[in-house]
Amino acid sequence: MGSAKTEMQDYREFIDEILVSEEELQKRIAELGQEISRDYEGETLHLICILRGGVLFLTDLMRHISVPNTIDFMAVSSYGTNRQTSGQVRISLDLKDDILDRHVLLVEDIVDSGYTIASVLSLLETRHPKTLKVCTLLDKPERRETEVPIHYRGFTIPNKFVFGYGLDMDEYYRNLPFIATVDLERYRPNA
Ligand code: PRP
Repeated sequence: MGSAKTEMQDYREFIDEILVSEEELQKRIAELGQEISRDYEGETLHLICILRGGVLFLTDLMRHISVPNTIDFMAVSSYGTNRQTSGQVRISLDLKDDILDRHVLLVEDIVDSGYTIASVLSLLETRHPKTLKVCTLLDKPERRETEVPIHYRGFTIPNKFVFGYGLDMDEYYRNLPFIATVDLERYRPNA
């Protein structure tokens, strides 16, 4: 289609290994959904997905949540280029709905340094939800720079660069159904 064709490298050329397979992901996500459904029994749950990486996780997770639920989205970006040391993030897309007096569950793909979740939590606390909890698919504790509460966790992973299932390599490959590690020596960023 069109002439400006993107030459995208086949992920099989730079994949190191599949860290979490599609089957393992789906099994664990179903378990998380059941656990969340038990914990919020009799309540209505408001799921907030942090864009963009959390999208696949949210849509699969919510299929396993049996209590009444609603969804909303938020996007954050870092100040400047060095979030790892500055720890500052800003809201680039805010929620559509009020969260006052609601049971809110943040849905993230990964907690790395912890700065994103920490910032979002402190912002949302000021809006007085009834409860505010965190559900992350992946937790990379070796990279943590600020302590954050994690109430639901899919997998604890080692300190390796990962992609797939919402996580990108220069914005691509988010659609892969598994989580994989990268062999950076063989990776060629898409032009
Ligand atoms: C990733 C991920 C988390 C955040 C975690 O988002 O989706 O939101 O980084 O890192 P932290 O714990 O060190 O803050 P990213 O900024 O890459 O945006 P994306 O979700 O749009 O890919």
